[in-house]
Amino acid sequence: MAKSITDLQLEGKKVFMRVDFNVPLKDGKVQDDTRIAEAMKSIEYARSQGAKLILASHLGRPKGERVPEMSLKPVADYISEKYFPVTFAADCIGPEAQAAGKLNNGEVALLENLRFHKGEEKNYPEFVDELAQLAEVYVNDAFGTCHREHASVYGLAAKMEEKGAGFLVAKEISYFEKLLKSADKPFAAILGGAKVSDKIGVIESLMERADRILIGGAMAYTFLKFMGRNVGKSLVEEDQKDTVDRILAKAKEKNVELLLPVDHVAAKEFNSPEGIDVGDPDIPDDMMGLDIGHETVELYTKTLGECKTVLWNGPMGVFEKEQFAAGTFAIANFLGDSDATVVVGGGDSVSAVKMAGIADKIDHISTGGGASLEYLEFGKLPGVEILG
Ligand code: 3PG
Repeated sequence: MAKSITDLQLEGKKVFMRVDFNVPLKDGKVQDDTRIAEAMKSIEYARSQGAKLILASHLGRPKGERVPEMSLKPVADYISEKYFPVTFAADCIGPEAQAAGKLNNGEVALLENLRFHKGEEKNYPEFVDELAQLAEVYVNDAFGTCHREHASVYGLAAKMEEKGAGFLVAKEISYFEKLLKSADKPFAAILGGAKVSDKIGVIESLMERADRILIGGAMAYTFLKFMGRNVGKSLVEEDQKDTVDRILAKAKEKNVELLLPVDHVAAKEFNSPEGIDVGDPDIPDDMMGLDIGHETVELYTKTLGECKTVLWNGPMGVFEKEQFAAGTFAIANFLGDSDATVVVGGGDSVSAVKMAGIADKIDHISTGGGASLEYLEFGKLPGVEILG
């Protein structure tokens, strides 16, 4: 069992805290500060304990190159404006990082994007050594990155003696662990998004645990097609027939109720300004499904209303477009009013919940997309395991 940040002696120590500040930026400004706000509990705790706190994160996927638009400087500015002064280091290793790390107790520095160096994603030992020179204690509070065996998440944690998990990592793990091990029943999982192939592992894992699985988004059309329905021009993963067959067979074997849309909002083109109600599971040849229909909303909300635990990952349709957003928002609003324990994970469903204005009514909104899916699939994450 990993130590908690509260088990570590932080006073006067140089503490390297891996955070996930992979936040959306526009014109050099932070657009959504959820991940920053969620890491603040550990950050404030470390400051209050008198740590010399060095924060490190990636932003985007610069692939070992210095990409100015992916600099963490705007994040440092944001924190300095909203919370407390932060020293920004223009590099995450070497003299600049060393200089920024010369802090008094309770002071904070933020290093430049770790992924500006190839060593981060490749977990090069030389890069790990450089990071290790910066600190005496290691804390991981970057839940969204715990599925990556990268230098700052994995190699550095392996090397450091004194290490532990931050509050955000602990909170996320406790919610997902409960889903996997002791969810109150009935337990329903709503899975959406474009591709079945992205979610095979999660679906199979959830079939061991959930009582009901509700499918939406474009992946529903792949299911419907291989179940003999007409899906018109809808997005379909043609090579996933075996997967669909296997999932359907397993659902039957495990007695899991697998629900698929019974009607749709469709259009002739993805860019059509209007959606047309197709009050039938079959979609006309010249149309594509882009949202679940209202009968499906009724069916899904009735089903969810009977459940004590709900996990939601992936939107029900192309909710970024108003004409195809009703299904996703209906589910979001229903979950906002639900008495069930509701956990929402995955970037798009999290955005939907926020856009619907009901985020504060959800029990747990995960800061990890890929990380939450991997945890649900494997029941563990490398970045957490390595903490001991
Ligand atoms: C995320 O946004 O899910 C995390 O920050 C991880 O980012 P990555 O998928 O680029 O590793």
